Amino acid sequence: MCGIVGYVGKEQATPIIIEGLRRLEYRGYDSAGIALLNASSIHVVKEVGKLSALRSRLQKESPVGTTGIGHTRWATHGVPSEVNAHPHHDCTRSFMLVHNGIIENYTELRQELLDKGHRFVSETDTEVVVHLIEENYSGDLLRAMLSSMRRLKGAYAFAVIAAHEPDTIVAARCGSPLVVGVGNGCNLVASDASAVLSHTRRVVYLEDNHAVRLGRDNLVVCDIAGNEVEPNVKEITLNLSDMEKAGHPHFMIKEIFEQPSLVADVLMRRIPPTSREIDFQEARLQTLGLDRIRRVMMVSCGTACHASMVGKYYIEEFARLPVEVDVASEFRYRNPVITDDTLVIAISQSGETADTLAGVREARRRGAKVLSLINVEGSSIDRESDATLYVYAGPEIAVASTKAYTAQILALFLLALFLGRKRGLLEEPHFREVVKELRLIPGKMQSVLDNHEVVKICAHKFSDAPNFLYLGRSYNYPNALEGALKLKELSYIHAEGCGAGEMKHGPIALIDDTFPVVCLAPAGRVYEKMVSNMQEIRARRGILIAIATEGNKEMAAQCEHVISVPHTHEALSPLLTVIPLQLLAYYVTTMKGLDVDQPRNLAKSVTVE
Ligand code: G6P
Repeated sequence: MCGIVGYVGKEQATPIIIEGLRRLEYRGYDSAGIALLNASSIHVVKEVGKLSALRSRLQKESPVGTTGIGHTRWATHGVPSEVNAHPHHDCTRSFMLVHNGIIENYTELRQELLDKGHRFVSETDTEVVVHLIEENYSGDLLRAMLSSMRRLKGAYAFAVIAAHEPDTIVAARCGSPLVVGVGNGCNLVASDASAVLSHTRRVVYLEDNHAVRLGRDNLVVCDIAGNEVEPNVKEITLNLSDMEKAGHPHFMIKEIFEQPSLVADVLMRRIPPTSREIDFQEARLQTLGLDRIRRVMMVSCGTACHASMVGKYYIEEFARLPVEVDVASEFRYRNPVITDDTLVIAISQSGETADTLAGVREARRRGAKVLSLINVEGSSIDRESDATLYVYAGPEIAVASTKAYTAQILALFLLALFLGRKRGLLEEPHFREVVKELRLIPGKMQSVLDNHEVVKICAHKFSDAPNFLYLGRSYNYPNALEGALKLKELSYIHAEGCGAGEMKHGPIALIDDTFPVVCLAPAGRVYEKMVSNMQEIRARRGILIAIATEGNKEMAAQCEHVISVPHTHEALSPLLTVIPLQLLAYYVTTMKGLDVDQPRNLAKSVTVE
């Protein structure tokens, strides 16, 4: 939710900031802006729309300066417009500030500042902060920031520059991510490490309620009380080349096609060929006291929540522990029963989702141990959990999650096997049999991808349909929800996912001869039940699209369109059936000419509630 970048050094800052914003555009893209400090004047350029609009404008008026800040916005308070775009300024335009997050007490602060004579121009919550800094400034920007922070409620990451403080950026965080890049003769600040990586691999993840003053060759970190804190500099291992499209037209299709190698790499790491057990060494699982765990609660949002639902089936099946799945935004505001034998598992690709992070904090506050399944190392949830299992999906850039979902499902499957072995419930022969099948999954995923033309034809046939229904049962029920989510968030076609058994309790009323229904019907315990539900749709002239196991003739006879996936253990089938769902959403969206990597109104990292 909004990306911020700042640079202070010897080079012209504009191209550096724009390049950083390009890496952060996944966080929001309804408007963008930049402020450059040159001598004691500040030059601001803002533009509505994607970063490309700001870029074109900068070709005409390129601000000069070696210190600057930039922002790409996902609107919370105030429509996307030039005046609401960041950076925001105080009454005298002496301070410019960019913000990611929400200031919850802005109405009261705004009134207080209005009473003192401050003049506001935007509808944003952010503007109060820069006026507060103006109010609190007496020659030291860092001190003014700290005093202002003490007045704020909500979540934020800021970067601010001041006309009277050359070669200086002050940044701060509370609840929204912020990383400092420690360069050679330059320093940077950004919402995530990808934006500083072209300049340095040395970073400091700023803690909540800390602020930092960056100069060209120095940085000072302080806590909110003003005490200086020793910065903890870390080396990052990310690769910039993994963040490019590598010849693909979109990040999403690149990421879909990366899934077989991702699964193969994770298996190589977690169960090397000579190993008889699962290797979770880096995760510090011993800190969780797993022996006394009698119950699991999972907390997550969006696609990660669908992965959690698959994980529930796995942990109940293989480890015989009861599992509850909660969306984090509900978990944090109800009164969950957490006992000391509850393990809370938080799942998040970014590790920054505000609701999931709040769920982690709430669970720990109530005494639970928290295990997180995270993709982005060093993220807030990673750092605040008792233990973390990395899912190793690599950088996921497309806003709609694909490979991270697969990686989360795989991690949960391995975790369920691990717990089953640990609890003495999964005998070695059974374990070996399942692992043997697991090792075949990358090849089977590849053969689903090799068949992508079949999905493309399906997309072509149905891309004009205004509605879709997705049905699945058991391990494939969460995939029905995920397939519907992928289609609606990318193509803006209304789509609903439903447990196939629940269809008769409502959604069946929607069915007529214009209504495509995607049915997940791989071989397994619930296959016959799925067939019965499909008959019910057929009897009402609904259009059946089936995802079924190779060689299934019954489906071919009854459905408008069949997409085949290889046979596998039914617990592993979601790893195969999800691929046609991802491809279907991708092809329908590209056929409609829409922006598949950056769908409207969405952002990849949701750092507000
Ligand atoms: C946003 C993204 C989704 C993602 C969800 C949770 O809505 O667009 O793709 O599933 O956030 O994100 P997380 O990073 O916590 O997995």
